[in-house]
Amino acid sequence: MYDFSTVYNRKNTNSIKWDYPLVREKNLLPMWIADMDFPTFPGAISAMKNELEQGFLGYTEPDDSVFQSVQDWYGKRHQLELTKEEIVFSTSVVSSLSVSVEALTSPGDAVLVLTPIYPPFFEVVQLNNRKVVTSSVKSVSEGFQLDFEDIERKIRDENVKLFLLCNPHNPGGKIWNRQELNMLGKLMKTYNVLVVSDEIHADILPTVSRCQHTSFFNAGNGFKDFSIVLSAPSKTFNLAGAKISTAFIKNPVLRQKITQTQEISHKHEISSLAFTALKACFLEGENWLTELNLALYENILYVEGNLIQKTKVQWMKPEAGYLIWLDFSAYRLTHKDVVRRLLEAGVFLNDGRTFGREGRKHMRMNIAAPMDIVIEGVERIRNGFRDLE
Ligand SMILES: Cc1ncc(COP(=O)(O)O)c(C=O)c1O
Repeated sequence: MYDFSTVYNRKNTNSIKWDYPLVREKNLLPMWIADMDFPTFPGAISAMKNELEQGFLGYTEPDDSVFQSVQDWYGKRHQLELTKEEIVFSTSVVSSLSVSVEALTSPGDAVLVLTPIYPPFFEVVQLNNRKVVTSSVKSVSEGFQLDFEDIERKIRDENVKLFLLCNPHNPGGKIWNRQELNMLGKLMKTYNVLVVSDEIHADILPTVSRCQHTSFFNAGNGFKDFSIVLSAPSKTFNLAGAKISTAFIKNPVLRQKITQTQEISHKHEISSLAFTALKACFLEGENWLTELNLALYENILYVEGNLIQKTKVQWMKPEAGYLIWLDFSAYRLTHKDVVRRLLEAGVFLNDGRTFGREGRKHMRMNIAAPMDIVIEGVERIRNGFRDLE
């Protein structure tokens, strides 16, 4: 049994989550940026310690066992059959999103994203001087719903070249099902739109069985030919600071474009410690992950019972990940007032507006923390709106 209940003091550790100036200044409880207040998978920490004890940090390359650990993990858990050549490492998923935009499109090209969306999806397009085209996912009580007519119209009218898919979706943790992915993929194929599918949250499945996640590669015949799947151990095992991620690229032409673009700025160079950590996670981390998902499940139930059922806050119950999408619109306040009340109540969540215009009166809450922190966070949120219940 691993420990998911001890609360550690992460202040003054250069943690972005805990040492963010506003968080420190106002002593806010940080439930925002997506890392966990559970310690990193201990097997990864010991593997890195062992490597450090050898006393050398020279240039290194991953050996076959590193690739094999990736092949085994994704083969077993996600039914992805990968050869060594099809695995491309990078420091982070966002870096791979950016490299994909750079490598697969030209300045001015249109890139489609489904909003609300994790803010770097906008940034990697805009910073590469491409045009962001958005299609809104309709927020219904069971979760987000795709508007296929709108998506097709946008692809046609804007001449979209690339689609950045987030599967499972952040915010909200919606898992796009096989049928939705299949319809999306067929549309993209019809209009020759390439797809990059960010599947970083696909192992964190607190409320559903793992069979329910479908990789875009497996959602339709030939989908592997025009898509790239991005993943990483960083969310799953709380390893974001180690900086490592994987891109799975079956199509050799796409692969060459990506690796060439990476090489221009040496983005393919990964820390040896990161390779060591990744391998330990994929070889030894399965039981830890099972327990993590149980701990997250308890937290989700707590939020449901004590925030959603007892206040006017609404949500989309997450299927994947630990980033809950909260809707404060029932209070009939302005967005600014929602944000102000939360700050005054002493809790720091991600501002929904940064995820697109659909994020008005919404906030994203990170519940990957020991239960005591989640209880405190829920209490603070409730205090902020008690007069309006
Ligand atoms: C959908 C999604 N992609 C990528 C990332 C960041 O991954 P990385 O640190 O590997 O860039 C996050 C972090 O929250 C995320 O939610």
